[in-house]
Amino acid sequence: MEVFGKSFEIEGLKLSLELDYSSRMPEDAIGFYMDDEALRKERQPLYLMYRSIERLNSDAKRIADKHDLTLNLTLLRPGFVGKEYIRTIGHYHINVPGTNDSYPEIYEVLSGEGAFLLQHRNMKIFKFVKIKKGDKVFIAPNYGHILVNTGKEALLTLDINARESMQHDYETVKKRHGFCYYLIKGEKFIKNPNYDFFPEINKIRPKQMLSDKQLDQIFLEKPEFFEKLLKNKIHFS
Ligand SMILES: [Fe+2]
Repeated sequence: MEVFGKSFEIEGLKLSLELDYSSRMPEDAIGFYMDDEALRKERQPLYLMYRSIERLNSDAKRIADKHDLTLNLTLLRPGFVGKEYIRTIGHYHINVPGTNDSYPEIYEVLSGEGAFLLQHRNMKIFKFVKIKKGDKVFIAPNYGHILVNTGKEALLTLDINARESMQHDYETVKKRHGFCYYLIKGEKFIKNPNYDFFPEINKIRPKQMLSDKQLDQIFLEKPEFFEKLLKNKIHFS
């Protein structure tokens, strides 16, 4: 694999990249997963977050600084916590100033397979998107998102965000102990009892978008496109 011209591998539960990262530990996920008791028995990090990977390359750093964007990697290990697949805890983004819409985000799967659970903040729309290597997914404004590793290998994603959007709203998710459905073994859904409304599960496939090139390369070529897209200046869904 390569990102900004640096080649790297997934080595055990880490990446062979000389970058600092933060670990989402099982205790950090209490209140977000279906089974807190199962989380308390886990010892290993659920996933690692490599933030601001534009630091890997001076051109990438200069361009990201100019357009106020940031790129991140998320590495989720495979496995389960209780019946649930290992996944991110989930969050909503803050609003773009002066608007009623939150910042969107764009992802690409670099390795592995999994799914996105997307829940509109009105809690009336729920989408399930199966993803595999090479898929690009646009997280539209106002959708909370959870990334799930449903595969047997690690799941690695690359995302691009507006820098000012990186203060996330986790509390809305925690208040109800996750989204309205949990995804469990066998790719089945279970209703979260902390909700009283359960929308239809809209199963969708990622749309073909942008070129076949990897997101970091497209970013270097067209940063102004991502600046507009990720600050809600153009509509793309
Ligand atoms: Fe996000």
